[in-house]
Amino acid sequence: MSNKVDFTAMDHATKADYDLVFEHDEVNIQGQASRVVQWLRLMDGDSPYQISRLDHCLQTATRAQRDGADDETVVCALLHDIGDVIAPANHSQAAAALLRPYVSDKNYWIVLNHGLFQGYYWMHYFGQDRNARDQFKDHPYYQACVDFCAHWDQPSFDPDYDSLPLEYFIPLVEKLFARRAQSLV
Ligand SMILES: [Fe+2]
Ligand SMILES: [Fe+2]
Repeated sequence: MSNKVDFTAMDHATKADYDLVFEHDEVNIQGQASRVVQWLRLMDGDSPYQISRLDHCLQTATRAQRDGADDETVVCALLHDIGDVIAPANHSQAAAALLRPYVSDKNYWIVLNHGLFQGYYWMHYFGQDRNARDQFKDHPYYQACVDFCAHWDQPSFDPDYDSLPLEYFIPLVEKLFARRAQSLV
């Protein structure tokens, strides 16, 4: 059982109370990698695709790894759809928010916008503009996001692809979340 603060409303708290809270936060953040892996395991269910959502994540990350991407980028490929677990209506934003304190601006931007960029492959079937992503044509990370989708995300629904297992990626996930998080409150 944890020690408890004295206050019941924040406007009565003391510095000592917050010291206790921040101490707990430090321990809590150390469990982040294992919680993320648990979320990934939740994606191992039925789906309308020929493979599970987890297998799509593993396949996307495996393609990134085999193309020589660095470890941070491979983890972003692994986690790009993890927002589906808690925020299916804005899964790109949720995944990007999770990763933001630990990754480069470029990788953050790619994960944040990958859903819109993936729209190139399906939006025209629903009367939408498949080129909506071109609003970012002049952005420095535009082409990298196009490439992420073209080479890693959109082809990764193949039941015959030999993806690496989740266990392969766990040390990379642990390494990423062991980085000192940039606190964004
Ligand atoms: Fe996605
Ligand atoms: Fe995806």
